[in-house]
Amino acid sequence: MQQNFVQHSIKALFALPVPENAKASGLAAPGPLTPPVDPRYLFDKDLTADLLCWHQGRLTGAHRDGVWLAGPMGSGKTALVNQVAARLNLNVAQVNGKRRLETADLVGHLTAVGGDVLFEDGPLTTAARNGWWLLVNEADLVEPGELAGLNTLLEGGPLVIPENGGEVVWPAPGFGILCTANTVGLGDGSGLYAATQRMNAALMDRFWVLAVDYPPPAREIEVLRAAAPALPAAIVEKMVEVAGEVRKLFAAAGEGPAVEVTFSTRTLLRWALLAQRFRGAPQPLDYSLRRALTNRAEPETAEAIHGIVQRLCGGGA
Ligand SMILES: Nc1ncnc2c1ncn2[C@@H]1O[C@H](COP(=O)(O)OP(=O)(O)OP(=O)(O)O)[C@@H](O)[C@H]1O
Ligand SMILES: [Mg+2]
Repeated sequence: MQQNFVQHSIKALFALPVPENAKASGLAAPGPLTPPVDPRYLFDKDLTADLLCWHQGRLTGAHRDGVWLAGPMGSGKTALVNQVAARLNLNVAQVNGKRRLETADLVGHLTAVGGDVLFEDGPLTTAARNGWWLLVNEADLVEPGELAGLNTLLEGGPLVIPENGGEVVWPAPGFGILCTANTVGLGDGSGLYAATQRMNAALMDRFWVLAVDYPPPAREIEVLRAAAPALPAAIVEKMVEVAGEVRKLFAAAGEGPAVEVTFSTRTLLRWALLAQRFRGAPQPLDYSLRRALTNRAEPETAEAIHGIVQRLCGGGA
């Protein structure tokens, strides 16, 4: 099925400092799998440019690659893909990786409907037929051999479905494969990301790799301010400073005083929302941080983190 792509102004859609005439191809209206717009989402200029460049390159036939977004937990990988798609009205078929994800989970399977046996498309087939994005979250959890089934598609070839009488599906324009993962496909040397697999090198060779780290402090403050506008700016700045210190301790784990939990942007947002909610309570920052993070930490770690909060945020914490 062909979609009618229209040109959207990047400046208007993504609120980025780019020339007025910079355009990106999207659809005129949302479709059935267009993610909802998160009006508070803030786009990073470089990452957005990379993703738009990849999308444009695929649409024009300049390349056939997929895109692999790698970065720590809760840094905004999935949100970036969904929010770019949301603004461009693109449809995203999504699947979550797991070790036993089978080709049939992606391609589809035979199913009994009434007295008939029909082939039901999986997310990959749906995306290929319609020219939509396929987003595989946590792709490095999948058994490497299963994803190798994507190699032909990543070379611009068709999807062949033996279960459906050998049907050949040539991907419609707009189709693309995006993977998010905590690793760059080399396995996990840190021991943090249990169950991640070393991916097949020939598979990884077919991807652009984008590194999505936690936003720099100024941007993360903006993200939090947008999500919890009732919190005073000075408090939000301190919260991001606390997150920075805990991340440093976490990154140094194994080389001294270690903490086994850290602040993702997701956790920081949760802390801000709870702190806003409980801001009338005594010690609202400590109270909300327990619920957002430290109740799942070892007691010594929790104490160390609350110590940082006390030191940086003072008595009102
Ligand atoms: N730039 C941003 N602006 C606003 N919110 C953001 C931004 N980046 C991330 N977030 C929010 O942070 C949270 C975590 O993001 P997301 O789920 O995309 O992380 P992830 O990298 O996919 O994590 P995981 O590795 O656990 O899958 C989401 O609620 C998302 O909306
Ligand atoms: Mg994710």
